[in-house]
Amino acid sequence: MAVQSDILASDAQQEMSRREFLNYAWLASLGFITAQSAVLTYQFAMPRLGPGEFGGPVDIGMIEALPGVGAPPEPFAKAKFWWVMSATGARAIYKVCTHLGCIYQWKQEEFKFVCPCHGSQFEREGKYIFGPAGRSLDRLVVRVYDSSGKMVAETPPDGGPVKIPAGSRIVVETGMKILGAVHG
Ligand code: FES
Repeated sequence: MAVQSDILASDAQQEMSRREFLNYAWLASLGFITAQSAVLTYQFAMPRLGPGEFGGPVDIGMIEALPGVGAPPEPFAKAKFWWVMSATGARAIYKVCTHLGCIYQWKQEEFKFVCPCHGSQFEREGKYIFGPAGRSLDRLVVRVYDSSGKMVAETPPDGGPVKIPAGSRIVVETGMKILGAVHG
């Protein structure tokens, strides 16, 4: 009788260690999968941007590279924005329509931006005029550096113009979009 109970106890122990082993193996594979997912999510979420690529800071260089005050907006294709210069400063207006994301164009004869997709229109400084777009055009943050490399000005939080003194170096932060004002 005692022998039989010893055998039963040994079987129970073996069953327990088999269960423990399976539990540990299951937990280990779960941990491995979780760690792998975390690494993949991190890699996906982190932007991989080289210098000057859209999504990161784009170094425009010195003020000589900018259009003159009152000149037609000038496209800066690489970083997807329009330069708009006025007496009060510079704006970098994001080239994508605030309605459904088409690329709008500057119409010099009408002196406004017009979107070919659904006809939204915007003033030279990006303010909404007409059409299905729900807000004015978005702006990118412009940063101005002096010759020593110190930042001396940047686009204000409302997306207004930034003054650019002669001889400044300009960087456009293409990952920092200021949304245009909602109208109506
Ligand atoms: S995407 Fe520009 S008006 Fe619709």
